[in-house]
Amino acid sequence: MKIAVTGANSSVGQNLLNSLKSNEEVSVIAGVRSERAAKSLPDSPRIEAKLISYQDVDKLSEDLNGADCVLHLAGILIENKGSSYQEANVDATAAVLDAAKRNNASHFVFISVVGADANSTNAYFRSKGQAEELVKRSGLSASIIRTPILLGPNTAGASSIAAAASQPKAKLLGGGTYLMRPLDIDDLNLAIMDCFNKSKAGAALYELVGPDAISYSNLIQKMAGLLGNEIEIASIPIWVAKLGAAIGSRLRGGGFSPTVIDVITIDEKVDENADKTLGLSLTPLDKTLQKILNHEQT
Ligand SMILES: NC(=O)c1ccc[n+]([C@@H]2O[C@H](COP(=O)([O-])OP(=O)(O)OC[C@H]3O[C@@H](n4cnc5c(N)ncnc54)[C@H](OP(=O)(O)O)[C@@H]3O)[C@@H](O)[C@H]2O)c1
Repeated sequence: MKIAVTGANSSVGQNLLNSLKSNEEVSVIAGVRSERAAKSLPDSPRIEAKLISYQDVDKLSEDLNGADCVLHLAGILIENKGSSYQEANVDATAAVLDAAKRNNASHFVFISVVGADANSTNAYFRSKGQAEELVKRSGLSASIIRTPILLGPNTAGASSIAAAASQPKAKLLGGGTYLMRPLDIDDLNLAIMDCFNKSKAGAALYELVGPDAISYSNLIQKMAGLLGNEIEIASIPIWVAKLGAAIGSRLRGGGFSPTVIDVITIDEKVDENADKTLGLSLTPLDKTLQKILNHEQT
């Protein structure tokens, strides 16, 4: 099977590509936007880096040509001057869907987020929801996987947890009382491959979260315990953080914004976890944290 991966240099992409290096049945067209990103990809004769542009669908379809399946990973949570939610999350998805259709791809996987909703008042959740709608309307055989915070080597979530847990005092938004369902990034790899291997007609939506629900403050304390660090948890009022983020993001034309604060402080809840449907045995949180620790210490 040949898979085209967009945003292949993302943390999810890097982790998937590393896991596929030993799988001789899979080869990858790894779509990235710069030479620098291409150089960061795992080295394997079955991984072919391609410089792609989401603005030129003719070239994009040529670049992704030959792939049986497409995994669309490109997307952002934090906007910056060169990258808005509309461009990165909506327009890029439309371009990749167009390219996948032109190439008659047999299956399309889109990584979305728990809380995605085309009518959300939150611009990030809205953009992911709008992208999901594009996938549903594409007519392609597709899987949309909504995920919570992803934990694994080099994920933004893991880096924040490790950094906060190694301090004597962690100042958390609202005291970190919000509930998380962290998903091990290796479990997401298995889910993605399951979707490719069992593709059906139409678009299926999966909400896939980790096995353990935990407040962010308890998550930091758990990680601090693994580090042997006695930690004090303090609280930053969410309204204060939002005020600072509103001013800062306006001055900088992007960055940590009130939208991002709303996303990271919302409870991660799903009606039904898709782990069984996707044939997964989820990694316990303790094991995931230990993996992160091992990675941080190498
Ligand atoms: N990490 C999580 O906890 C989490 C949770 C839920 C959902 N997800 C979703 O999973 C996917 C991968 O996440 P990640 O955290 O691994 O991503 P990441 O490491 O932050 O990488 C983001 C990727 O998006 C690309 N990108 C940025 N702006 C773009 C634009 N305007 N047009 C096209 N591509 C653009 C980046 O390319 P450059 O390097 O060239 O900028 C990079 O390849 C994303 O769709 C994300 O929304 C992640």
